[in-house]
Amino acid sequence: MNKSDIVSRSGRFKEEMDKDVTAFTESVSFDKRLWRQDIRGSIAHAAMLKQVGLLSHDECNAIIGGLEQIGKEIESGEFEWKTALEDVHMNIEAELTRRVHAGAKLHTARSRNDQIALDLRLWVRDEIRTTLLNLRRLQSALIELAETRPDAIIPGYTHLQRAQPVWLAHHLLAYVEMFERDYQRFRESMERVNNCPLGSGAIAGTTLKIDRYQTAALLGFVDEEGHPKITQNSMDAVSDRDFIIEFCSNAAITAVHISRLAEDIILWSTAEFGFIRISDAFTTGSSLMPQKKNPDIAELSRGKSARVIGNLVSMLTLIKGLPMTYNRDLQEDKERLFDTADTINATLNITAQMLRHTDVISEKCRAAASDPALLATDIVDYMVRKGLPFRNAHHAVGALVDAAESKNIPLNQLSLEDFKSVAPEFEQDIFDCLNPESAMNNRNIPGCPGTDEVKKQLKHWRRALESDQT
Ligand code: ARG
Repeated sequence: MNKSDIVSRSGRFKEEMDKDVTAFTESVSFDKRLWRQDIRGSIAHAAMLKQVGLLSHDECNAIIGGLEQIGKEIESGEFEWKTALEDVHMNIEAELTRRVHAGAKLHTARSRNDQIALDLRLWVRDEIRTTLLNLRRLQSALIELAETRPDAIIPGYTHLQRAQPVWLAHHLLAYVEMFERDYQRFRESMERVNNCPLGSGAIAGTTLKIDRYQTAALLGFVDEEGHPKITQNSMDAVSDRDFIIEFCSNAAITAVHISRLAEDIILWSTAEFGFIRISDAFTTGSSLMPQKKNPDIAELSRGKSARVIGNLVSMLTLIKGLPMTYNRDLQEDKERLFDTADTINATLNITAQMLRHTDVISEKCRAAASDPALLATDIVDYMVRKGLPFRNAHHAVGALVDAAESKNIPLNQLSLEDFKSVAPEFEQDIFDCLNPESAMNNRNIPGCPGTDEVKKQLKHWRRALESDQT
């Protein structure tokens, strides 16, 4: 019997597999990454087989011992992966069977179809936990940056035109909110990942009396009360990759958020904005222009969102139109999933570190936010408080802006007479509205960038992140 025939080609096949076919169809080069999950799943499966009397005590122990030994060898790099054995499952099982006689019983009541579905669910479950942790770290880094310069006021932008002043902290907190939604999405997806598909077999389960609940419980597929959670339809279970699509989708949304943050960082670090300075260790130089300091981390974070989005599209396209149930196409899910998880976690991690090595230049921020024209809306609000209808006030302030522009002076240098000429309701106290601090003190509406509101938000997030046990 040829090596490559050990597991899946025994009996039926007379010819050896063509080597180009082996090269084309193998997945071990990338799915060996699932070895921990594969071994863990096999150990639980063996334990269940023993419980239901399909393996003897000694057979079970021999299998588990063999699998643990193989695990150690994989970990230390000694294990020899064989392309001819196609995938991670067959490599491990073939080696086990070579060493342990009872190894030939391990695949009882199991198919690689439910085995790979299991391995992937276990892997995604671990990755979700890592991603949740990294999201929390990035949120903390944003809060820290906001807290280091509580005095920084910047212009808020719409259409990338200066709109109204905001505390920089408020702008950073906007990202904390986005990453919170991402956190919730990943966490909620756990509910759907956390169902054990083992026992579904190739498509139609098994005639052997196995105990699916036991395997599920052994592998931690349990609800909050500790009750085992299993998939409910064997056909769905072996062909379902929704949990991968969902992971890729959640990651794509997160990547888009990181990309937006990266764009702000890139803009803010230009000479034109100058709001922040990223420390040397987190920037790169130019091979030609000695003066350059480039925000490459942010640019790459923005750029890498493209592949995370691409992976989601690949996954959706992969599944679309697949007939029930398992089809070999599904093997293409892994590289997309691995790349998504690696990219999103590396990006979250480096972005958090970069923020921890970023200084805010408050004076530059303030200078950019100091044009009183940014407070034109506050003047409208002032007139509304004096009883004018909003639309009339808006019109009058437009005339003021125009007057200041034609005199080529900032709004706050217009005289009280100038103000009164557009509306007699203006009093001396209008000038109090025209500095950014008082403007910020005046907008303490929940969710808005009022000084006390932002302080409250920072405190809330600081507490929430500290008490989080993710
Ligand atoms: N390597 C395969 C995959 O990733 C494992 C399942 C193989 N099943 C099969 N019937 N060929 O999808």
